[in-house]
Amino acid sequence: MQAAIDTRTTPVARIGDVPIHGDLILAPMAGFSDLPFRTICRRLGSAASVTPCVLDEGLVRGTGRSHERVDFGPSERPVGIQIIGKDEERLREAAHAALALAPDYIDVNMGCPARRVSSKGRGAALLREPERAARLIGALVEALPIPVTVKIRLGWDGESLNYLEMAQRLEGAGAAAITVHGRTKEQGYSGTADWAAIARVREAVSVPVIANGDVRTVADIAAIQEATGCRLVMIGRGAIGHPWIFSRRDVADVPMGERAAMMREHFGAMRAYYGERFGLALFCKHSVRYVQYMPGVAAWRRALGSAETIEGVLALIERLEVHPEDPPAP
Ligand SMILES: Cc1cc2nc3c(=O)[nH]c(=O)nc-3n(C[C@H](O)[C@H](O)[C@H](O)COP(=O)(O)O)c2cc1C
Repeated sequence: MQAAIDTRTTPVARIGDVPIHGDLILAPMAGFSDLPFRTICRRLGSAASVTPCVLDEGLVRGTGRSHERVDFGPSERPVGIQIIGKDEERLREAAHAALALAPDYIDVNMGCPARRVSSKGRGAALLREPERAARLIGALVEALPIPVTVKIRLGWDGESLNYLEMAQRLEGAGAAAITVHGRTKEQGYSGTADWAAIARVREAVSVPVIANGDVRTVADIAAIQEATGCRLVMIGRGAIGHPWIFSRRDVADVPMGERAAMMREHFGAMRAYYGERFGLALFCKHSVRYVQYMPGVAAWRRALGSAETIEGVLALIERLEVHPEDPPAP
């Protein structure tokens, strides 16, 4: 039997010269993977943080909530700041703006399927322009002193699966790692992720490939690693309401008391970060996911989703802990 490797001392992989001490990474998820949630996931075992996508021009101008999107804490390192863009000059400018925050690497989003992004030639639209995609990465690699990584999907649609060409071109342009979500842009989040396609990418390039799509349980982690040959696995939706996935614990393995304690911690962290009012409003998206597998889930969700005060949320968490079988009546 092979001796187990201590990933605290021996990295599982390197993104350029950045060691990654663990095989699971929280996926960037706009609206969910903010600083408070990433910090929790990182503590529970996520080996790195990637900030949710920010538009290049937003980052340069500091518009909207772009500063919040790229904000990260010291315990999250290594951290990749993810940028969306299609224009070489603007992307470079945005990456330079990001450098001021001293991330460990820059990740370029070439997978976002949202129409407002892809209709303007950004995100997943770059899958239709492999040459341009490679040119953008080449320009960033040349301009930046830190590694540049890319997150892609399998192609625009089932008729234009070009993930091998994309991966090889991106590697040729200097990408230090490639995350592959095993779906096309057209699929959005429907169907199932094609892990065999991710395996083909891994065989086609020599930089680390991070496998992504449909990992929800501890068994799924082993299964995607086996199917793709990738050590690094990125987990998105399966971590919402269940950050313990990064400690390789399934939902059934987390006692109610621990679940309630995590909800309190997460709620407190969000209020501390966003302020009481906004923290309360934003936590709702998470609270309804912490109860997703419980009996009476609909009633718990309704109650948590409509709680309007901090005391109201805390009382519901208390009730969950003490009487999980007794959700409040509507
Ligand atoms: C609400 C939401 C927001 C997302 N935002 C981003 C994003 O900002 N950047 C990105 O690269 N992918 C984003 N994704 C895609 C995820 O990173 C991931 O690729 C996808 O959810 C598949 O992984 P999963 O099956 O583990 O969820 C988002 C997904 C969701 C559900």
